[in-house]
Amino acid sequence: MKFFIDTADLEQIKEANDLGILDGVTTNPSLMAKVGVKGHEAVIQHYKTICDIVDGDISAEVVSTDFKGIVEEGKKLAALHKNIVVKVPMIKDGVKAIKWFTDNGIRTNCTLVFSAGQAILAAKAGAAYVSPFIGRIDDSGWEGINLISQIAEIYAVQGFETEILAASIRSSNHIIQCAEAGADVVTSPLEPILGLLKHPLTDIGLAKFLEDAKKFA
Ligand code: E4P
Repeated sequence: MKFFIDTADLEQIKEANDLGILDGVTTNPSLMAKVGVKGHEAVIQHYKTICDIVDGDISAEVVSTDFKGIVEEGKKLAALHKNIVVKVPMIKDGVKAIKWFTDNGIRTNCTLVFSAGQAILAAKAGAAYVSPFIGRIDDSGWEGINLISQIAEIYAVQGFETEILAASIRSSNHIIQCAEAGADVVTSPLEPILGLLKHPLTDIGLAKFLEDAKKFA
């Protein structure tokens, strides 16, 4: 399973990258706004900086919602760096645009996916990644992880090559559940990734080893 970090915060991206286990980055307009990136040029420069930090797939989201606009915007984003993956919303013109990008050698991440039917359409259009938002499903009182299992089963049965990129991660446990359910990629904020490191018995065990090491130092 691949690990992406879900943020536009450069310090957090560097910290996750320094761990040595990072395979990519996902961003969205809300994450860009959260770190105060404003204006077209600043956004473009921010994507370039992220591409310089991480050697892996970097999702850059379009904000157009019509076919022509999505294609024009996506072409410009894809031209920024070979690792840019154009992130396209799951809407009718988005599906059409994903098919156009597929036919023209541009990789896409179909975002805002909340059902198996949407995931089937994304795969049929040739998306490199499909992004089911499991945290937002949980927030609505449903079990987001069930969607990951369902899509994994459908893609396996049908032989779809689109990778399942589990998004909207809220906890370390979400990451573990996604791994069990067959996600190809999990994109997570830094905190749940770092949370995977923690176990009280590790801390207790290390303290004892260090204490005993003093006896033969
Ligand atoms: C990533 O691709 C998604 O945009 C992101 O995971 C959404 O997360 P949120 O539901 O916490 O906003």
